[in-house]
Amino acid sequence: MYRQFFRHQKQWKIGRSYSSSQPKAAASWKQIFGYTAGGVVLGSITAYFYFENVNLKTGLSKSLYDSTLPIKNLPIMEYGSAHDLEAAIAELKQKINPANISQHKDTILSHSDNGCNPIKPLESQKPNYVIFAESTEEVSEILKIMHKYKIPTIPFGAGTSLEQHFFTTRPNSVILDTSRMNKILKVNELDLDATVQCGVSWNQLNDHLKDLPMSAEENGTCLMFGCDCGLNANVSGMIATNASGVGAQKHGSMVQNVISITAVLADGTIVKTKQRPRKSSAGYNLTGLFSGSEGTLAVVTECIVKLTVVNPYETVCVVQFDDLYQSVNAVGKFAQNGLTLDAIEMLDPNMMKAVNFSSQVSQEFDIAPTLFMKLSGLNKIVVDEMVKKVEKISRDHDCKKFLFAKDKQEEEELFAARKNALWIMLDYGYDIYGDDVKLWITDAAVPLSRAPEYLQRANEIVEKSGFKSVTVAHLGAGNFHIDLFYLPHQLSACEKVVKEMCKLSIELEGTVTGEHGVGLGKKELLPLELGESSVDLMRKIKFAMDPNGILNPDKVIKIDSNEKFNGTWSGKQD
Ligand SMILES: Cc1cc2nc3c(=O)[nH]c(=O)nc-3n(C[C@H](O)[C@H](O)[C@H](O)COP(=O)(O)OP(=O)(O)OC[C@H]3O[C@@H](n4cnc5c(N)ncnc54)[C@H](O)[C@@H]3O)c2cc1C
Ligand SMILES: *[C@@H]1O[C@H](CO)[C@@H](O)[C@H](O)[C@H]1NC(C)=O
Ligand SMILES: *[C@@H]1O[C@H](CO)[C@@H](O)[C@H](O)[C@H]1NC(C)=O
Ligand SMILES: *[C@@H]1O[C@H](CO)[C@@H](O)[C@H](O)[C@H]1NC(C)=O
Ligand SMILES: *[C@@H]1O[C@H](CO)[C@@H](O)[C@H](O)[C@H]1NC(C)=O
Ligand SMILES: *[C@@H]1O[C@H](CO)[C@@H](O)[C@H](O)[C@H]1NC(C)=O
Ligand SMILES: *[C@@H]1O[C@H](CO)[C@@H](O)[C@H](O)[C@H]1NC(C)=O
Ligand SMILES: *[C@@H]1O[C@H](CO)[C@@H](O)[C@H](O)[C@H]1NC(C)=O
Repeated sequence: MYRQFFRHQKQWKIGRSYSSSQPKAAASWKQIFGYTAGGVVLGSITAYFYFENVNLKTGLSKSLYDSTLPIKNLPIMEYGSAHDLEAAIAELKQKINPANISQHKDTILSHSDNGCNPIKPLESQKPNYVIFAESTEEVSEILKIMHKYKIPTIPFGAGTSLEQHFFTTRPNSVILDTSRMNKILKVNELDLDATVQCGVSWNQLNDHLKDLPMSAEENGTCLMFGCDCGLNANVSGMIATNASGVGAQKHGSMVQNVISITAVLADGTIVKTKQRPRKSSAGYNLTGLFSGSEGTLAVVTECIVKLTVVNPYETVCVVQFDDLYQSVNAVGKFAQNGLTLDAIEMLDPNMMKAVNFSSQVSQEFDIAPTLFMKLSGLNKIVVDEMVKKVEKISRDHDCKKFLFAKDKQEEEELFAARKNALWIMLDYGYDIYGDDVKLWITDAAVPLSRAPEYLQRANEIVEKSGFKSVTVAHLGAGNFHIDLFYLPHQLSACEKVVKEMCKLSIELEGTVTGEHGVGLGKKELLPLELGESSVDLMRKIKFAMDPNGILNPDKVIKIDSNEKFNGTWSGKQD
């Protein structure tokens, strides 16, 4: 009605000037004022009724007046039918190479399950099509069409995410795979940044940087990208989950390593969030908004990332403690004494049992909380000073064993237990539970001072339940992967334990996810952690940018008040 009104007004104006014998310029101010005032009054009345009406019916327009969008004010989303999907695909085939649109069984499978999600996709959670995009412009064409036909579209990088991030939740969905856009476009050595397409992986970028001749005078110096993650994870997925890893101790998570993002919005609009300087106060920080948005706000196609320089000299320290609380206090003291370490990882006594069991580690360790740390600097003298200080602080906190690497080989041997942690865990699990064993990887983070309590109480929860776990923590960041072994028939019992641990992390001022993200798996916990209003604000932002709700629907925030399942946790296996 609103739109109709304006169309009428326009026609009426055109008609008038067309039929008028008077030249336009001769219209008196009275006429002009009359038309304008009339238009404004009529417009206001119409708009008033329009909004009032829509208000009562759907509530969506009412929300225009509110700062947030609670789920009760969101109308039930309606998506394209099977027929609409076919029409969309037919139209898309005019725009992109049809060979890049796949319905092949294997392609569908490789885009619905990565073997690492504890929850397997239902038949209904697999896409109807996988579309491979080759450029930002193609992504834009694809989204224009999907927006028009209201087709749920799930962006996809390497598919290594762990919380059912890329499972479809609605019928007639497509996956938009951006991994073929994998070119490193430019490395600016002096500025320490690189412009890359979104399908580039962090390890691919580092391999490329290693081979660049550096103009630095010190040998052994080269550029690197500081954020690490699961192998081959694409930068798109890393931005989308605010990923991080061992390197975050020094370089932060993905969000701290991205300068600018080129992304395509739900309706096909292409946006760039920043220019290239490190500093900028130019407007809202959309780079930060897209980071961690898990493909629900925009499709990332290109980005500029920060680079850092590998220090020429590096070593590894391994420190064992009798007491968990003392180990954490020591870590706090490192920072308080101005020591910036490259990595501060902890393996708990359960994990150290697995390490002792493993044939992949030659070193003998005690079964005790153990810190694995990396230190680096300009040269041996600088690093030796740091090691001395780390040792002093560790001994002040009653460590019972302090080891440090004297050369490259020892360094690798000492760090092997951390580096191969996943394989060590799996071997251990297979040995105890047999070939059917699964691993549920948790990801809570708490402030460092609450870390020992979290680990202790979470382990009590696990023990009480009868499950067994091993823990690897990015302790410097208070981020714990307490990983539970379970057999397929124990899935739902295991889920319960995991949820209890999640709630514990919230109680201790922490988060249910330090680096893996929310996806479907942790959606119901988000309001508990942040409060309903914060989630309502996220929903407002989501629908401001994606009014048809096509981008990765049902992830991160609830968008359907009738939603039967709260996550795809085990309650809902068909
Ligand atoms: C063995 C293993 C180890 C891991 N270790 C770590 C770790 O140390 N640290 C860590 O943080 N994570 C880790 N993970 C989890 C995973 O690697 C990260 O979540 C990673 O960031 C996902 O990237 P991806 O390219 O695989 O993204 P995908 O799994 O393909 O997608 C993840 C999310 O990003 C969105 N997305 C993908 N591409 C785009 C795009 N172009 N535009 C917008 N959104 C997009 C998807 O819709 C989805 O919501 C690990 C996983 C495994 C299997
Ligand atoms: C996808 O499209 C591009 C561009 O048209 C083409 O070069 C490429 O071969 C296509 N990919 C496949 C798998 O056919
Ligand atoms: C990006 O993800 C794809 C899977 O979709 C993977 O095959 C590829 O190796 C990743 N990119 C790089 C450069 O590793
Ligand atoms: C750097 O390394 C090269 C080869 O390894 C060696 O020839 C050169 O002398 C080294 N330069 C310095 C400054 O140490
Ligand atoms: C990403 O992680 C960093 C911690 O390394 C955190 O400071 C930041 O708030 C996170 N950003 C988002 C968008 O989650
Ligand atoms: C914008 O946000 C990103 C991610 O949080 C951050 O890395 C960057 O420094 C911010 N930029 C500005 C100019 O604030
Ligand atoms: C380590 O493993 C060996 C054999 O696998 C075992 O004999 C030993 O007791 C273990 N050490 C500890 C401290 O548990
Ligand atoms: C989630 O669903 C399960 C099973 O339907 C139900 O028992 C549980 O109470 C629900 N949880 C929440 C937070 O709604």
